[in-house]
Amino acid sequence: MIDAPPVIAIDGPSASGKGAISRRVADVLGFHLLDSGALYRIAGLMASREGLDLENGADVAKLLSELDILFESDGGAETIIRVNGVDVTTDVRRESTGELASRVAAQPEVRSALIGFQRSFRKAPGLVADGRDMGAVIFPDAQAKLFLTASPEERARRRHKQLKEKGISVNLAALSAEIAERDYRDRTRSVSPLRPAPDAEELDTTPLNIEQVVSRVLAFVEKKMPGLII
Ligand code: CDP
Repeated sequence: MIDAPPVIAIDGPSASGKGAISRRVADVLGFHLLDSGALYRIAGLMASREGLDLENGADVAKLLSELDILFESDGGAETIIRVNGVDVTTDVRRESTGELASRVAAQPEVRSALIGFQRSFRKAPGLVADGRDMGAVIFPDAQAKLFLTASPEERARRRHKQLKEKGISVNLAALSAEIAERDYRDRTRSVSPLRPAPDAEELDTTPLNIEQVVSRVLAFVEKKMPGLII
């Protein structure tokens, strides 16, 4: 039997740096990347555009089954997201879309509807999967599982900087409150609540910059899969 391609699961709360870290790690290893948060963002965005009740999981799941979702590289660091042929990248990345995502992500039907699509990203030579439940639910057999955290203050600061760089101005206090609310909803939902898989390595990134986190993650991957990094 041929072994399934390796998976590195990188989970953690909002603005813990998972996105940037996952991309770098995937680039270093030449692996594919799954930004699972983008899928929940697409679900929230499209459901809200269609005027659906975001708490009606069955309706949102049905809508998802009608969407053709495509991630395309722009040749640089960005990924272009197309839904039914339309570029929705900017709207998907908005802070307000994160809120819609967190609401639909609490619905079991929506989570189930996305399982198969997420698993289809597991292709040779391997996958870096970024999310909340990559290690615990979607890829329980992942070869390396990490759970990245950072203090709430540091996460609000990072998200503020990230949005400012994109020319989006947001108030730091409002952002902190929004992150805290999303954390609460993600941690307390009944299905796939945000928590580390039992076999995940937890890494507090509060005092670390991106390069330092990437080195720690790669060192952990090398420990789990000796010889993968040359
Ligand atoms: O990085 P940030 O938290 O802003 O956003 P994200 O990773 O794009 O995820 C947006 C929302 O989707 C999160 O707040 C979660 O509620 C949800 N999500 C999830 O439930 N499961 C995942 N695997 C990924 C995201």
